[in-house]
Amino acid sequence: NKKISIAIDGPAAAGKSTIAKITAEKLSYIYVDTGAMYRAITYKALKSQIDIQNEKEIEQLLLETSIELKPSNSGQLVFLDGEDVTEKIREEQVTNLVSTIAASGPVREEMVYRQQQLGKDGGVVMDGRDIGTKVLPHAELKIFMLASVDVRAERRHLENTRKGYSSNLEKLKEEIELRDKLDSEREISPLRKAEDAVEIDTSFLSIEEVAAEIYALAQERM
Ligand code: C5P
Repeated sequence: NKKISIAIDGPAAAGKSTIAKITAEKLSYIYVDTGAMYRAITYKALKSQIDIQNEKEIEQLLLETSIELKPSNSGQLVFLDGEDVTEKIREEQVTNLVSTIAASGPVREEMVYRQQQLGKDGGVVMDGRDIGTKVLPHAELKIFMLASVDVRAERRHLENTRKGYSSNLEKLKEEIELRDKLDSEREISPLRKAEDAVEIDTSFLSIEEVAAEIYALAQERM
């Protein structure tokens, strides 16, 4: 069996990381959550109180920052300069700012470079917004995962409630819509379906069904 690369893109909260994790586990591949990398630098920028409008400052900050993704039982841990920030990068403040920082050209260039290094030997499942179009344009399997905004907000709401976090469905819907808008309308590597991507609308599918479909598609390409 050939070690292929699998790119999973799509809007916020479409279930990409859940499915990517399962797929990587089934295939014994590396899982790379690229959103977590953008979240990690956003978290650091917030903490360091630099001017977040200043691209040069953020680029400089990123160049001196180490971001590591380590597999764990619960999926993936995110380390920022050696500190475990897995939970912290999911906080609202980070979520609301990440798309602004991810729109910066120099930040994207450095992130794409790091992601390509992580994926260079294949055997990788990577999820994000520009994986099929920019990071891994030669990936053997590209998935574009969609779901209605209502379904996505409901799922995130359920997840939050289950974890014991406070959660407001209407606010979640707004946050998701705004992030999709920013990510789709930015100038550099906007959220787009790659021409050769397989589109999967997960609105009415279970996690198991989506995972099975992607697994079958992966098998065909090995
Ligand atoms: O996937 P997640 O929702 O954690 O991503 C957080 C944000 O990071 C996205 O809303 C987007 O602004 C940015 N992102 C990106 N390119 C990627 C992955 C994430 O611009 N490949």
